[in-house]
Amino acid sequence: MRKKIIAGNWKMNTCLKKGQELAEKINLYAKSNTNIYAGIILGVPFTHLYKIVNTVDLTKISVAAQNCASEESGAYTGEVSAGMIKSTGANYIIIGHSERRQFFSETDEIIAKKINLCIKNELFPIFCCGESLQERNESKHFEVVEKQINTGIFHLDKFNIEQVIIAYEPVWAIGTGVNASPGQAQEMHEYIRKITSEKYSKAIADKIPVLYGGSVKPDNAGELFKQPDIDGGLIGGASLKADDFIEIIKVV
Ligand code: 13P
Repeated sequence: MRKKIIAGNWKMNTCLKKGQELAEKINLYAKSNTNIYAGIILGVPFTHLYKIVNTVDLTKISVAAQNCASEESGAYTGEVSAGMIKSTGANYIIIGHSERRQFFSETDEIIAKKINLCIKNELFPIFCCGESLQERNESKHFEVVEKQINTGIFHLDKFNIEQVIIAYEPVWAIGTGVNASPGQAQEMHEYIRKITSEKYSKAIADKIPVLYGGSVKPDNAGELFKQPDIDGGLIGGASLKADDFIEIIKVV
């Protein structure tokens, strides 16, 4: 059975002190409870990575960056490479978030390059995909997500694809307070598992975690995570409040 994963995406929030306090609260909960069934990942700003890696018990909590450069190193002022992220002790990188696609013009091809750099640096990518409201209204959501997945991760071989966590995040559900219904999310997760099975094998598709993201809160997490193909969540707003994030972890 796949283990459930609860990953926080802090986005561009918290200064270092506040971020550390948040990580300390979650760490305290993770260390003092033996009945936690979810894997916990904190997706923090670059500036916080090293500090938070050294704040949390890494046997209980993993740390993720939220992006990396599409090049390995060199004259790219202001960029942060996958190798640099690895050197902080972080183990995951969120790649291809819709906010990066939308505001920073990340294409599926750029995302594929970043995925390769994660693999090369032995970092686990949390690969994000999801359709816009217009695409859903035009019933193009399966087609859109399939294209994102095909170009973003399906070039990987059968060993490396197993390093990937997929996060389905419909753009219309992010930060809106309107989550996909458990049925809508399950339908897409099932589809993602089906195309993964067709591309690789059922055994591989059964191993890959597919998280749901988009307005997950303590009161809707239970119904969402009960769905057979939903393996946990990528949590934005609610991951910035320790109590809410812990409540979501407890749902698992
Ligand atoms: P919200 O949980 O704030 O909707 O954000 C979801 C998200 O974008 C996680 O990556």
